[in-house]
Amino acid sequence: MIKIETITTIDNATFLQKNEIADFLFDHLGKYGDPKEDIMKCLDYALDQNLHAGGFVVLAKENGKIVGALVMNKTGMSGYIPENILVYIAVDASHRGKGIGGKIMDMAIKMANGAIALHVEADNPAKKLYERLGFTNKYLEMRLTK
Ligand SMILES: CC(C)(COP(=O)(O)OP(=O)(O)OC[C@H]1O[C@@H](n2cnc3c(N)ncnc32)[C@H](O)[C@@H]1OP(=O)(O)O)[C@@H](O)C(=O)NCCC(=O)NCCS
Repeated sequence: MIKIETITTIDNATFLQKNEIADFLFDHLGKYGDPKEDIMKCLDYALDQNLHAGGFVVLAKENGKIVGALVMNKTGMSGYIPENILVYIAVDASHRGKGIGGKIMDMAIKMANGAIALHVEADNPAKKLYERLGFTNKYLEMRLTK
């Protein structure tokens, strides 16, 4: 049976917990992923007390093993910029298409106060899931990399 768990800033997550989540995300984000050190930075931002605006993690577990994970960061801003940014979501490649991603997203939407931004590549099938949940793309994201 799949259990949904949440970790917030007040849970004092240990390095080992964050490391396990980062390893899972690194393995299962595949081509949509980032280097593990960047994933750890995002987890530190979400879960370390007092350092940043915070955030939370949603996990799906089966028999204690992570089969899905989502990391949300709070932006510290509101109104003119969405309050939250969904940085990572992945479901174990062997468990996809069974509704786990949808359940994790539902929990994250419930937990987040305010609007949620995310970015997704145009060719990623995850776009369909986001659209089904009500995400729209009014803006074209542009970046200047320095
Ligand atoms: C996106 C992801 C988290 C969805 O998890 P999931 O458990 O398969 O999602 P659900 O079963 O709840 O929903 C499946 C929906 O997601 C979409 N989807 C995206 N990738 C899929 C995949 N590899 N297999 C099946 N469905 C996929 C389908 O369009 C489906 O929509 P539908 O139900 O309207 O047909 C998962 O596919 C994943 O980990 N992908 C790789 C990492 C990734 O792309 N992350 C997002 C970066 S922006």
